Amino acid sequence: MNNLAPAELVLVKKACEITRDALNYCKSLIKPGISTKELDILVEKFIIDSGAKPACKGYEGYPATICASVNEMVVHGIPSKDVILKEGDIISVDLVVEYKGYHGDATRTFPVGKISEEKQKLIKVTEECFFKGVEKLKVGCRLGELSHAIQSHAEANGFSVVRELVGHGIGKSMHEPPNVPNYGKVTDGPIVTENACLAIEPMINMGRKEVWLVEDGWGVITRDGKASAHYENTVHVTKNGVEIWTL
Ligand code: CO
Repeated sequence: MNNLAPAELVLVKKACEITRDALNYCKSLIKPGISTKELDILVEKFIIDSGAKPACKGYEGYPATICASVNEMVVHGIPSKDVILKEGDIISVDLVVEYKGYHGDATRTFPVGKISEEKQKLIKVTEECFFKGVEKLKVGCRLGELSHAIQSHAEANGFSVVRELVGHGIGKSMHEPPNVPNYGKVTDGPIVTENACLAIEPMINMGRKEVWLVEDGWGVITRDGKASAHYENTVHVTKNGVEIWTL
């Protein structure tokens, strides 16, 4: 479990605030006809103008600022001028901001214009999964209590949980211990300690849980071609409760 010092927590919090603002800005740009490449260029400028850095760009060779994952794409959609949003799509925008060496990470799934009722339900349940998990998170609990709550809520609504990708600790690095799975038993995982910073990120599929990697080596899509949603925040665990820093 990562435990950050007070001076480090200030910087993670600032990175999280820029992450939140960049996602809100991105939301304001989303409309039928815009390409995911245009979103990427504008959001990158926003982050740099905020005095921060886009942390995904160059991370293990990832070529862009945002991950823009449309419909059946689960995560890590590389922005492209050829991916043009249309009415009825859903798009998950995942971005990580680095501020003075510390990171904030968040994701939202946005509707493009009017979307189907089942896509609305998928987005709503995915957000609820995050909050059901966070309700269980406290100093001294087992991380598996959060994981189990997320899985239970997704499956109770007829959806499935992606296994191949998980949440993570965050701080000086984008990815730190522990892993934060969105499935599992209440007895799984480490005991949660004070001042942990965690990126909690349910990825929920409308159909089956299985996924494929696409040819670019990054994009992950559902095998059954049905839609997927993603909701992520960076949180700070204190002895008085959990603070959600990217909200
Ligand atoms: Co993350």
